Amino acid sequence: MATTQVWLGMPPCASRNSDVYMGVTASAPAKVILFGEHFVVYGEPAIVMAIDKRAYAKVELRQDKRLYLRSVNLNLAGCFETGFFKVEQGGTKEARLKFEPLKLVVEKVQEIYGENAGLDIEVNSTVPVAAGLGSSAAVAAAATAAVGALLKVKMSKEAVFRISYEAEKIVHGAQSEVDPAVSTFGGTLLFQMDTGVRPLDVKADVPLVVGYTGVKRSTRVQVAKVRDTRNKYSRVIDHMMKAAREIVLRAIDALKDGDLETLGDLMNINHALLCGLGVSDESLEWLINAARKAGALGAKLTGAGGGGCMIALAENERLKQVLEAIQRAGGSPFIARKTDEGVRIEGI
Ligand code: PMV
Repeated sequence: MATTQVWLGMPPCASRNSDVYMGVTASAPAKVILFGEHFVVYGEPAIVMAIDKRAYAKVELRQDKRLYLRSVNLNLAGCFETGFFKVEQGGTKEARLKFEPLKLVVEKVQEIYGENAGLDIEVNSTVPVAAGLGSSAAVAAAATAAVGALLKVKMSKEAVFRISYEAEKIVHGAQSEVDPAVSTFGGTLLFQMDTGVRPLDVKADVPLVVGYTGVKRSTRVQVAKVRDTRNKYSRVIDHMMKAAREIVLRAIDALKDGDLETLGDLMNINHALLCGLGVSDESLEWLINAARKAGALGAKLTGAGGGGCMIALAENERLKQVLEAIQRAGGSPFIARKTDEGVRIEGI
């Protein structure tokens, strides 16, 4: 992705070896997939938008060489010291699994810095986990930027993106670059497998209600399910792929023009295709129907489906109504707005 070099945490001319900072906090946004999930795996385009829910990473320098990690939301804490991991709060396996990507982030930044420093990292996030909102990528981007700024390492957003992408590969296996890209750069991005990410011009506000079903799901399982369906009914699915592509192309224009009505219609059609692929479930359908009945312009699942989250598009004056309807239907909703702000330093 072509980007301007934005230096994080210090002016571009600052030298690496000046004194490090004692504490830095950085944040990065979560995301929703507006259109094209699943079809994107087979080469079709998808549209992803950064939202104003952020993950925060606070980093402080330690006197020793240990890496101490704490997740406020997951109630986990642990320490890496010379390759060994010691849990201090929560289960060892879970803590190690969650902290391994952060350890990689620290190692990558310290490679650039040129030596190892002991660090305390505390992660705090308002993003539901395993819900398809890109919480792990937001945490990785925020932590990369915070560690970089603390050590006064010259880091462009491009560098933050590359390191967060490495961390995401540990979390999700072979993962597309969408989540780390949107958490790093913010805004609305068009993604396609063969061309990568490209920022989209979206002037309009895109008022959304995100509804979390409370059902945790695995992207890997959902992707495998679609693969099976596609193998079985390839000619049928091929037509759906073409329809999905058309939806994205129409949506690019509608986003540019701020045409919310068309966007809502396209969301509904996109959701119908996802239902056809078999990735919706009862928990999502309840919330989607409730949102539509309450006057949403359109609603669909977002991400891998099988639980996780749905999104509803609504005019500003209807947002509250839609939010309450989703709540009554058993979901945990919040209002989300597009944010153009990707990863940023919050305070030094
Ligand atoms: O629910 P998420 O954020 O993991 O999104 C998955 C999106 C898929 O298209 C289903 C998979 C992918 O890698 O693009």
